[in-house]
Amino acid sequence: MNSHSEHFYLKCVTCAAEYSPTRIDYTCPECGPLKGTLDVLYDYEEIGKKLTRSSLAHDGRTTLWRYQDTLPICSPEYIQALSVGWTPLYEAEKLGRQLGLKNLHIKDDSRNPTASFKDRASAVGVVKALEKGAKVVAAASTGNAASSWSAFTALAGLKTYIFVPENAPAGKLAQLLLYGAKVIQVKGTYDEAFDLCCQAAEKWGWYNRSTAVNPYLGEGKKTGAFEICEQLNWQVPDYVFVSVGDGCILQGTWKGFKEFHEIGLIERMPKLVGVQAEGSAPLVKAWQNGTDVCEAMEPKTVADSIAVGVPRDQVKALRAIRESGGQFVAVSDSEILAAIPALARQAGVFAEPAGATGFAGLRKLTEAGLLGSNATAVVIVTGHGLKDVNGVMKAVTSQPVKIDNNFGALEQMLKKVPAWRADSRA
Ligand SMILES: Cc1ncc(COP(=O)(O)O)c(C=O)c1O
Ligand SMILES: [Zn+2]
Repeated sequence: MNSHSEHFYLKCVTCAAEYSPTRIDYTCPECGPLKGTLDVLYDYEEIGKKLTRSSLAHDGRTTLWRYQDTLPICSPEYIQALSVGWTPLYEAEKLGRQLGLKNLHIKDDSRNPTASFKDRASAVGVVKALEKGAKVVAAASTGNAASSWSAFTALAGLKTYIFVPENAPAGKLAQLLLYGAKVIQVKGTYDEAFDLCCQAAEKWGWYNRSTAVNPYLGEGKKTGAFEICEQLNWQVPDYVFVSVGDGCILQGTWKGFKEFHEIGLIERMPKLVGVQAEGSAPLVKAWQNGTDVCEAMEPKTVADSIAVGVPRDQVKALRAIRESGGQFVAVSDSEILAAIPALARQAGVFAEPAGATGFAGLRKLTEAGLLGSNATAVVIVTGHGLKDVNGVMKAVTSQPVKIDNNFGALEQMLKKVPAWRADSRA
């Protein structure tokens, strides 16, 4: 076991070198940023003494801080007062019936304070920034991580630089600007914005919340898996579907299940399915080719949040899928768009395109006969539909009908359109 002074330590995913968190903040200096991402590891025997099914049953906190014993937090006084996590897990009977699945659940993480899964990571990241004494912070993001970060850093009074790609949707830009971040819109892709942000953070000493290079973000993300275990009354699902860009949500989810297993809270493990958009699927290709390194690609998809050409958490994401015995799958833009109204109408959950991508993957694998009707599946919805109204409108097939403001006009219109007839009881 480690001999570091904190209750956790860092370990390189490639060369296995161990580092004290007082020495290293980001990645392994020997292996570099892509290969040298760091695992955050704990004394699980110690955690298991405190964290039990019974202690959780008596824990009244309805946020991710109910799992504080498993998080790399040294100064809890820096926790910001936003309610993150403990999002609903819906039993999606109606949606499941359509697919012939008896046990389908939707974990709606669009219900976080800034409407995406990324709040789990920012909640932890801001504490780490304050522990480091940061005054200026940065992040590169397709939009959600940054808008989440900006909310937390605004509360903490930190000067915040954000790097987003040129095509970041208006909803996410609005959040960034209203939270008061300095928004740098890079004429280029997310991958280019990411490199520029890391360069600037290093040069000017800004605390960097960019995904994967900061080891603590996955720690917040693992709490989604913890919640799934508790909310299913400790019955671990057979499958968990996650939409994937950089791979941090996926690897964090896997780490959560692994840690609960290690502590002895769950007896079995799920298979994870990482779902990417066809036009942005370097992890799917690497997994299919059995390689450890993703080939960079020029991303093109309607799901802007997962338009990622160089997945920064690729080592951990590939490891997660291989260890879990699950798989990666690619879905087309039209499959992603079709998933949005299905989730909205059959489960009442309004997802942005990347938020619905996990469900598109589930539908694809179910229709291909890969999931038996008795399989228990959880789909994580990672972002809210109002984040990208232009994106979700691509899934809309009807339009509002405009009429003059009088009752006669209303009657006329309803007569003309049979499906809208006013006397219909259906
Ligand atoms: C809504 C949404 N879904 C999925 C993802 C993918 O997460 P990751 O990049 O950790 O794979 C993101 C990341 O920005 C996101 O915003
Ligand atoms: Zn290393």
